[in-house]
Amino acid sequence: MVQRKSTRIVTALPGPKSAAVLAKKAQYVAAPLEAYAPFIIRTSQGAVIEDLDGNRFIDFSGGWGCLAVGQRHQRIVAALHDQVDSFLHTDFTAVPYAPLVDLAEALCARTAISGDKRAAFFNSGAEALENAVKIARAYTKRKAVLVFENAFHGRTLLAMTMTHKAKPYKTGFGPFASDVYRLPYPYEYRKRVTPEEIETALLSLVDPAEVAVLVVEPVIGEGGFLVPPAWFLPFLRTLADKYGFVLAFDEVQSGIGRTGKFFAFEHFDVEPDLVCAAKSLASGLPLSAVVGRAKVMDAPIPSAIGGTYAGNPLACRAALEVLKTIDDEGLLARASHVGDRIQARFRRLAERFDVVGDVRGLGAMVAIELVKDRTTKEPAKDIASKIAQTAMANGAIFPTAGLQGNVLRVLVSFVITDAEIDEGMDILEDAFATALAKTKG
Ligand SMILES: Cc1ncc(COP(=O)(O)O)c(C=O)c1O
Repeated sequence: MVQRKSTRIVTALPGPKSAAVLAKKAQYVAAPLEAYAPFIIRTSQGAVIEDLDGNRFIDFSGGWGCLAVGQRHQRIVAALHDQVDSFLHTDFTAVPYAPLVDLAEALCARTAISGDKRAAFFNSGAEALENAVKIARAYTKRKAVLVFENAFHGRTLLAMTMTHKAKPYKTGFGPFASDVYRLPYPYEYRKRVTPEEIETALLSLVDPAEVAVLVVEPVIGEGGFLVPPAWFLPFLRTLADKYGFVLAFDEVQSGIGRTGKFFAFEHFDVEPDLVCAAKSLASGLPLSAVVGRAKVMDAPIPSAIGGTYAGNPLACRAALEVLKTIDDEGLLARASHVGDRIQARFRRLAERFDVVGDVRGLGAMVAIELVKDRTTKEPAKDIASKIAQTAMANGAIFPTAGLQGNVLRVLVSFVITDAEIDEGMDILEDAFATALAKTKG
């Protein structure tokens, strides 16, 4: 029995008020903008969402990982009000402003790369990735891009090409960008890969003297929360140094404290040249960043990178407060605690249900992979989505992930309380029992 304190389900989903908006959505909003939740949000605080009909949910999706400090943190709300009363927009390259400069200083200080650093700002994760590649190409005067299996880097032409999963992200959208080469990834649960195999694959795909940049997620997000073995990222550093290309980490999902360190790469003995950040950086306001070694960041000619809204003052003010809040409220340690508490419950699920093939994670980036059979490891996508839907109908939102869609992952706010974690996990455990009973019946 779930002890309900934060959640409350008073209607079938969607309730009547949500259903009216969803009917209008179907008529006017382009069909590909499919929504995961079958209800319309009215308000949210911390990690709890209330819909138009008064249903209340614990949100383990955190706006796909944008809400590290929680919905509407009061410091962020106050900073935004203050900025609204000052000015909204100039375009930094027309009339510059201090919040962007202060944010560049704060981000450089938090990025564990030695020597002089610079930061540049954009609007989305994909834009950060596009610009990291542009910067690396300008610096190396080379063109090829190396990426990995299971990668997700966004939906613009180059970022979509760099993304692995074809359906839905690439379906019908070719031709793709050229000069992108995909290397094997050490997916420990399914596929062992050695350093030699990676280097051999690289040499067979492209002349390394033509490689501008290797881009990798230090912990793979969309591709199923894959934590690499300890040798992996330092080995990529060795390759970058040996062949003279730039090493860029995509920390759009794994950064801003998600793994218990400010950037996930800090768990490994490695320094990249460039890091991309977004999502929780500005607590859901559109902002992304590329931070990296000054000599690389300064390579493009003046005005070669930028964008009308890039580094919007409201988003920069929010981001400055996010960084301070993470420090002042000890949210890195909190992220580790949240991850440990959830992972302990995932391990309990693994003991109770054979459908759990693997439990893995780093800090608050934890996931559970579902399989039809523990020996064959056949992915159990239908069961994963049935469990997620059952949990949602009972008040807890859990996103799925993975190339096969058979992974349940957690991208929750770090300010979620222990009681909310326990309530959400009770709902999830019940959803496993219900969904699996139905599958057997
Ligand atoms: C690792 C990673 N890179 C890039 C992106 C793209 O970010 P955006 O959707 O803001 O373009 C995402 C989004 O989920 C991501 O997880």
